[in-house]
Amino acid sequence: MARSSWFTFVVALSSISIGHTLTIRQDAITPLPSAEIAAFKPYTWYASTAYCHPSSTKAWNCGKNCDANPTFVPVDSGGDGNETQFWYVGYDPTLNVVIVGHEGTDVTETAPPLIDMDTSLVPLEAKLFPGADPSVRVHEGFAGTQSRSAPGVIAAVEEALSFHPTRNVTVVGHSLGAAIALLDAVSLPLHLPPDVYVRYIGYASPRVGNQAWANWVDSLRMDITRINNKEDPVPALPPMEFLYHHVGGENHIRDDDVWVSCPGQDNPSDQCSTGAVNIFRFNATQHLGPYDGVTIHC
Ligand SMILES: *[C@@H]1O[C@H](CO)[C@@H](O)[C@H](O)[C@H]1NC(C)=O
Ligand SMILES: *[C@@H]1O[C@H](CO)[C@@H](O)[C@H](O)[C@H]1NC(C)=O
Ligand SMILES: *[C@@H]1O[C@H](CO)[C@@H](O)[C@H](O)[C@H]1NC(C)=O
Repeated sequence: MARSSWFTFVVALSSISIGHTLTIRQDAITPLPSAEIAAFKPYTWYASTAYCHPSSTKAWNCGKNCDANPTFVPVDSGGDGNETQFWYVGYDPTLNVVIVGHEGTDVTETAPPLIDMDTSLVPLEAKLFPGADPSVRVHEGFAGTQSRSAPGVIAAVEEALSFHPTRNVTVVGHSLGAAIALLDAVSLPLHLPPDVYVRYIGYASPRVGNQAWANWVDSLRMDITRINNKEDPVPALPPMEFLYHHVGGENHIRDDDVWVSCPGQDNPSDQCSTGAVNIFRFNATQHLGPYDGVTIHC
């Protein structure tokens, strides 16, 4: 099935149960202060940078994406952009943080969709997620590609932390890259010293796992932000009918370009992604942004 018809198919499925997923949330949906929106911008560029070839992120000569964060010190890069999405690790002295970036899927290309289309839920690999409850299930394709990059990413983060004066790590990604980044952000603290603080900022992430996964991740009280643009269909996938649930931490960009913070895991308000996207209302063009002026593209 072609990529675009697959989107149409699953978005259609996700609309079927709109009636019975509605629950009224007590927490308010609030607009983000402009300073908070502006603070995401370097990370948005970092998420975009992950689409650049590893040879150019290793040398930090990838053009406008690299130029947007000019003080970055690269440590390592990898992936083949096919079976294993590109990734890079380095240190940003301006933000005083180690950055981990994961490539997503270019929706106009055809090689990696195989990974996305396999929506089987599988247990987490014990080696990467020691101690995870067996009821926790995640997308098989996302877990597979994350596990292939994980050894290189963990080694590069350890190296970055040993050479630079910070204990902070921020993991970013867009689309499939945001799903891989979330798995990484949950796995990394299980492999790093306890004083290392891992934060996650994901753009246009699909749902990554089941309800037990979402509850477990939220119980870890990590700093998680999911940024979704307007009626981008990808955050509505895989649909909740396939037993997928989002973790909390959504910031949704409304049609009027106002950023709102959406409490809960799959907030059904039409100001938030889960409530805003359905078979009658989705726009794949919005997948790449712009996110506060940044369009994701190497
Ligand atoms: C991508 O991976 C598939 C599966 O391993 C392989 O058959 C194909 O040749 C690879 N394509 C490229 C461009 O490396
Ligand atoms: C880590 O990040 C937190 C929150 O942004 C900040 O308060 C703290 O100073 C940072 N620590 C280091 C060692 O960079
Ligand atoms: C889809 O999104 C793009 C980019 O925001 C916009 O220009 C276009 O008008 C939208 N299409 C529809 C049918 O709303």
